[in-house]
This record gives sequence, C-alpha cells and structure tokens, in this order.
Amino acid sequence: MRKAAMMLATGLTALTGSIDVNAKVTAPKGATIFRLDGHGFTYALGVDDKGYLQPLYWGAPLGPNDPLVPGDPAQLKAPGELSGFDPAGSVTPQEYPGQGEGLVSEPGIKTVFADGNRDLVLKYRAHRVEGDTLVVELADIRRPLTVTLRYTIDPDSGVIGRSASVHNGDTKPVRVDQIASAVFTLPVGDDYRLHYLTGRHAAEWTQKQVPVTPALTVLESRRGSTGHGNNPWFAIGRERVTSEDAGPVWYGALAWSGSFRISVGQDNLGRVRIAGGYNSYDFAWTLKPGETLDTPVFYAGYSDGGMGGASRAFHDFQMRKIIPDGVKAKLRPVLYNSWEATAFDVTEAGQAALAEKAAKIGVERFVVDDGWFGARNSDRAGLGDWTVNRTKFPNGLKPLIDKVKSLGMDFGLWVEPEMVNADSDLYRAHPDWVLAYPDRPRTEGRNQLVLNLARIDVRDHLLGVLDTLVSENDIAFLKWDYNRNWTEAGWAGVPVEDQQRVYVDYVRNLYHILAELRRRHPRLEIEACSGGGGRIDLGILEYSDQVWTSDNTDPADRLMIQDGFTQAYAPAVMMAWVTDSPNWANTRVTSLDYRFLSSMQGGLGIGANLDHWQDADFATAAKWVAAYKTIRSTVQRGRLYRIDPPVGEDATSATMSVAQDGRQGVLFQMLHSSMWRDNPAANRPQGLDPARIYRVSVLGGGALPAGVPIHASGAYWMQKGLRAPLKGDYVGIAFVFDAIT
Ligand code: GLA
Repeated sequence: MRKAAMMLATGLTALTGSIDVNAKVTAPKGATIFRLDGHGFTYALGVDDKGYLQPLYWGAPLGPNDPLVPGDPAQLKAPGELSGFDPAGSVTPQEYPGQGEGLVSEPGIKTVFADGNRDLVLKYRAHRVEGDTLVVELADIRRPLTVTLRYTIDPDSGVIGRSASVHNGDTKPVRVDQIASAVFTLPVGDDYRLHYLTGRHAAEWTQKQVPVTPALTVLESRRGSTGHGNNPWFAIGRERVTSEDAGPVWYGALAWSGSFRISVGQDNLGRVRIAGGYNSYDFAWTLKPGETLDTPVFYAGYSDGGMGGASRAFHDFQMRKIIPDGVKAKLRPVLYNSWEATAFDVTEAGQAALAEKAAKIGVERFVVDDGWFGARNSDRAGLGDWTVNRTKFPNGLKPLIDKVKSLGMDFGLWVEPEMVNADSDLYRAHPDWVLAYPDRPRTEGRNQLVLNLARIDVRDHLLGVLDTLVSENDIAFLKWDYNRNWTEAGWAGVPVEDQQRVYVDYVRNLYHILAELRRRHPRLEIEACSGGGGRIDLGILEYSDQVWTSDNTDPADRLMIQDGFTQAYAPAVMMAWVTDSPNWANTRVTSLDYRFLSSMQGGLGIGANLDHWQDADFATAAKWVAAYKTIRSTVQRGRLYRIDPPVGEDATSATMSVAQDGRQGVLFQMLHSSMWRDNPAANRPQGLDPARIYRVSVLGGGALPAGVPIHASGAYWMQKGLRAPLKGDYVGIAFVFDAIT
C-alpha cells in the first residue's frame, strides 16, 4: 500500500479524478502530455505541434486538472525563431535536445555520423508506461538513431530517476561525443542560487553557493572517479526565499562513480538548464550498428521545505531505494579501525591486543586496515598482492579472526583492489594491466598505478581474488579504498575508436565486481572509501552499506564536513571516528567527550591508539559507546534537522535527529570556542510530535541545566527551546527526548 498519492498519466483527460492512493497508471491513445506525481511533487512534459518533447513543469504538486498547457493540450506550440541569432531550434525548450538545428545551450547528446554529419534533431516517436516508469522514445528526423528516455518516480519521496539510452539503427558506426542522463529546465528567473559541494583530500564536503547566471557553472570530475573536487549533487534555491527551513529547492544527484559533468546556467532566453551525465572530457563512444549506450540515472526532486526539507526527503529516498537492503538494512555497528593507531605496522599480536581493548568499550566490529598483505610495509609495495603477509600473520588471518569473534565482535579488512604498486607480484606478472599509454611515462600517485578494470581479464581476476579472500576467511566487512586519480588513461589493446570507452567500462566493471561479490556473500558489508570521501555518490551507494566520509578526523572540522555531507547524503551511511588528540590533520587538541559527541552524529567508529589510553579514557569511551547504542537508530535512520550550522558568525552549532516514529529525538549542541562572556542561545528542537509528552535527559548522564523541566510536550520544547550553559572551547552536550505518551 503506497503512503502517498501517485499518478502517472498521459493526456489531460486521464487526469480527472485519478489522483488517489494506488492510482492506476494510464496511457490513453494519442496522448501528448505526460505527468509524474509523487509526494510533494509534480513533473510534466509534453509533445509540441512540431514533435519536440518540451519540459512543462517541475515543482510543488499541481491539481489533477490543472492546465499544464492552457486550452487544448494538442496545441502545445513550438516557438518560432526569435531573431537571426536565435533560431527556432535553440529557442524551443527541449527535454532532451540533440546537438543540431543551431542549438546554443547544453545538448543532451552530441553525435558524429560516419559521413561527417554532426546535426542531430530529436523528435517524439512513441511512449509507453511500465509500472512507475514512463518511457519516451525520440528519433532523429532523418537517421535511424533513437534516444529512449526513462522517468521512474518514487511515489513516497517524489524523487524521479531519469536516464537515456542511445541506439544506433544504422549500418555504419556513429560516434557519441557527449551524452547526458537528463536535462532539467526551470522557468526564467534571476534569483536562483546554486548550492554545491566541493573540497579536496581531508577537506571534502565544503559548501558553496553561486548565483545561476548565463555564465555556466560546471560541476565535474575528470579524474576517472567521483573525486574529492565536486560531488555529483546540486541544489537550487531562490535568493531571499529559500533557507534551511523553508522555500523551494530543486535538487538532484547522479548515480555514477566515474568522471561526470553537471552544468547549470541560464540559456539564451534566461531559462535555467541543468544537464548531467558522463563527462565529455576525453570521452567518446563509437556506437556500432545495432549497439545501445545507456547512461547512469540522474535522480532529482523538489521540496518546498528549504534545504532541510530537501535533504530529509532525499535521505529518506536513499534509505528506502538506494542503499543495500533499504529499510531492512542493519544499523551500523560501532567499529574500531587500526589505521591511525598502527598504520602499516600491523601484526597478529598487536592487532589482538587492540581488539581486546576495543571489546572492553563495547566495539562491535574490529577492522584491520592497510598493511596486512603482500610486502606491504609502506605505501611503496604490495598493492595487488591480496595474500596474507606471513611475517606479520604467520598462521594467516584465522587466529586473529577467531580472537576477534571470541571477544564478541565481527571482523573487517581493508582492501584497495583497483590499484597496484609497481613493486608487486601482480604488476611483475601483468605490467600491461594498468591504465597507461605505451612508450609514454606513467604518473604514479602514492607510488601506485590504476589497474584497467575496463579489461575483462582484470575484472575477473579481481573478483576471483576477493571471492577467495572472503570465502577462506570469516570476513563480515570490507573497507574498499581507492587512493589516487587517473592520469594517463590509456587502454592499449582495443581499437583506437574504443579506447575512450574506458571511462564507462571501468566503472561498470567495478559495479559488476561489487554486485557479484555481494551476491555470492550476502552477509558481507562494504564501506566505500577513496582517501576518505573521494568516491561517494548514488552509484557506489547501491553497493555500499556505509562510506568513509573523510580522512580528516578532527572533531571540529568534522562538524562542517558532516554538515556538508548531509546536504546530499543520508546520515545512515556516514561514518565518523573518534581518534587521537592532538589530531593528525591540524594538531588541534580536544577532549575525548567532545570527540565522541562529534562522531556520534553519524555511524560511530573509534580509530584512536588504544595502547596509549589510560583507565579513565576507557571508562569515558565505554560510557559514550553505551550511550550511543541507545540513540543510534534515531541518529542513523531518523530525520535530520540542521538547527544551527557549524559555519557562520556564531561559534555554536546544533543538529537534531528525530526517529521516524517521532518517539525519540536527540539534540546535539556544540560550542567551538567561547567569546567574551557570551552564552549560546537556546536551540529550538524540530521534528518532535507536538502532542506527545517527552522526558528529556542528558545523553551519557548528568544534570539538566537549571530551569529545564524533565517532562513537557513536543510543542513546549519546539517553542521554548533548550539552552545549555556551555563554556570553554570544544565542548558539547546532547539532550535526548524520549516520548512517554
Ligand atoms: C586511505 C583511507 C584511510 C586509510 C589509508 C590506508 O587514505 O582513507 O582511512 O585506509 O588509505 O592506506
């Protein structure tokens, strides 16, 4: 039974009285207007009198009989030329334009035919409805080239997934130089603002905002993977109208873990166009006769609840529809990871000692990071040789795994399968397996080269090696790392016209390995990591139970990183570790309490060197881990309200997570540094049920601030707020609201 109204219908006549729970999808003959309606959302498109597919609407829900095309829908007009500089082809708003007919804005697709023709004009040919999916077929006006557009709606969140497939029906090859998954359009307006996420290693998830103007903003990766530079996510709000809590937000994200490109700007008539898909940089795909090229899915949604409303809807969508097992996914266990403690110096005895200490504080998963395999004593050797280092583990991994399991934890292992050190047995056996151009220098990054996963033999080798590793050892979890970008992306051994397919074939084969490994080992969990958060997107999330958000584990920086991350992605997958102080990234000194309060806002991990801890540290950690377990379901799977961002003029920040059933809320209040004698202002909780009575307590124990009642209604808390008398630098407190009615 669907919670929200959903309807997908063709033809205005079909709309009358059709919006209802479980509304039937209908597609009357001869229809030219298409609608997708989900929770809080309507999207519409239609075929005009010349056969172009035009975008008609993307935004808040419309009434069932609203005139998407005033008057007779069959009269949807294609505009004529505006001036000699603006021919009809570039004036007509197109849902997915071919590069042709004088188009001067971003095309959906750009092709070169075997005879040199570079003109492509796509017009409507057919459509069909398959469940929650609308399929519209476009065809070139002369050549047998078709583009099939797919629109799938998730009725509960209103998120749609769009993708395109180009098919060459000709007898000669056609080169595709550029192909988007989708192009989105917003009406003319001068007050749109684009929000995006940028950064670099150990500084991911930095938030930026720019006005949307005729100067195109391009969010892209040319790196072969998603990258730390730009994330394939965007949100567009309106100046002075959109805030964290209110106002329109149009947002979207590409499900792709390779080079991508999302462009945002106004076209020649001031309409906002957002095109996203494979990056055309260094890319080309020669479509053989009869061949089809599919794009990844570009998901998009709308919220009138501001950036907070948009991210909550998108989180909800990801938890139900993207991450493995959806609503049935397990809560993230508290993990220990040895990387910051021991780096490459891993031994059976050393890890066993850490495991004993981790178990004492309530850790549920023990993860051995880099350094356990091959000749891996530094980052100069060993990558590619996924066999246990017998000097460090004389009897293999089994004794350590048995020990970890006897302590009540499960066992996880770090791998970086796509990479190879030149100093490795794998590279010595297969020097031709790396991305490179023959007779050209190859740039090494962190002393490693990238295996060419586009090759089927490389794909099958990696799958085999990983399958063996997981089959022969009781491994519950793999941290799957990826620690450099592509440089010389050569694929020798295939015809020149196929070599630039590497950008697509590589990523598809990566997904194949992940999917197949999960299929063969259904209980295996995987963490996506790329030098921290360098490969996080909706594509990799389909195969990942959690992600390593950033190598920057400083708890104060981390609040900003988490604030940026959650604009796009769900806290359900966001891992955060408590590590040592001073922090390696910036030498900042913070208390263990503060580090826990920062990390407990995601999936909690511990990466400190427990060999250096005193009894008091173990007691503090045990207290926080136990406290975390009482709220983790709310933090991980609840609704997140970013109440006071960690950036801005004040030194405070606050987040609130509320369980989906409204029975628990957790308010984290953090103070970066005290100024003068100021006291932080009260934070007003959000998302509680106004009618329920909640008992408030301090997470981890401790007295409530003076004057705070123990019991009050959700309405009371949300109106009155809660002020913690925080003083000092890097301090915090968390309040828990438990419903008692
Ligand atoms: C990357 C990861 C780290 C750690 C190291 C190991 O930087 O992000 O967490 O696993 O590799 O080499």
